[in-house]
Amino acid sequence: MHESRSSAPILGSMRFGEWGARLSPEGVADLLEGALDLGIDTLDLADIYGGHTTNALVGAAFARRPGLRQRLHLIAKIGIVMASSPGNARGVQHYDSSVSHLRRALDESLRALGVERVDTLMLHRFDPLLEPAAIADWVREEQTAGRIGAFGVSNFDAHAIALFDGVLFDGVLFGGTLLGGMLPIAANQIELSLAHDAALDDGTLAATRARGAEAQAWSPLGGGALLDPQSSIGGRLHGALQTMSAEFGLDPASLLLRWVATVPGVRAVLGSTKIERLREGVRACAEPLPRDAWYALWEAARGRAVP
Ligand SMILES: NC(=O)c1ccc[n+]([C@@H]2O[C@H](COP(=O)([O-])OP(=O)(O)OC[C@H]3O[C@@H](n4cnc5c(N)ncnc54)[C@H](OP(=O)(O)O)[C@@H]3O)[C@@H](O)[C@H]2O)c1
Repeated sequence: MHESRSSAPILGSMRFGEWGARLSPEGVADLLEGALDLGIDTLDLADIYGGHTTNALVGAAFARRPGLRQRLHLIAKIGIVMASSPGNARGVQHYDSSVSHLRRALDESLRALGVERVDTLMLHRFDPLLEPAAIADWVREEQTAGRIGAFGVSNFDAHAIALFDGVLFDGVLFGGTLLGGMLPIAANQIELSLAHDAALDDGTLAATRARGAEAQAWSPLGGGALLDPQSSIGGRLHGALQTMSAEFGLDPASLLLRWVATVPGVRAVLGSTKIERLREGVRACAEPLPRDAWYALWEAARGRAVP
């Protein structure tokens, strides 16, 4: 069990297997060891990645390298049912935050990974049908059983996060004050990059920070689109990236990652499966951009200055 969380970026597993690089278990083990050597000790997982195959791929890597799992903080996301997910009779893509589904999905994630516990369990998407009090009770049950450490959410806006506030849950009255009435949310994993910046000013990031939760930025390079001058956003940014790359001695991808990591309370979730790119990513996230450079890139991406 790995409790500490560093400020280093997180490694995402979405592209490890069938949705990307098609690494072998040995290749995943090498990548994870290489990432650990760089100081990346947190691995982001989800049951649906690779069409429900990537957790098992990571589990096979753990089985090959004893000790590897122990050095990692595992984030496991559950709650999406894809059209092609096993047992989805109607074949409709949907979210399922019912306790029965979450329990089954956690069982399956632990089995595929070959582990007894994940360090953070995350709801993958906001489900309008979710029942926060039932989820909070279940989370506490699983925490007591030792199958999960912290609880987190993903793609939750400010109002959705607030569903877990307040007195919905068993609080303890102490001298007339309600203590322990909130389910702690360790992190909110959100889409955040120069291609998707809504979280910065729609209240999502502020609510995440106000809740004491870490913001984890997924697709910090816009899935690679920000680096493509042929894409509309990539084209808008190209000139500014070239100029600032020379100024800061960083390649364009590193500059984009530094832009994300400069936002207080945010950790980037890196999507590369190449160790050299992870090395650059760690270096990029270690320092902030000066404020004027950060705003200059934001202005180039938005196509207008802040008011
Ligand atoms: N919570 C959610 O709903 C959610 C949704 C999506 C993703 N995620 C998580 O976030 C992680 C990261 O997402 P992402 O993969 O979309 O991140 P990303 O970093 O925005 O994109 C990664 C892609 O960009 C490419 N790339 C990286 N550096 C490059 C460079 N210098 N030049 C050209 N291409 C480059 C990578 O290719 P190479 O592999 O060749 O480097 C990869 O294909 C995922 O693994 C997953 O864990 C979470």
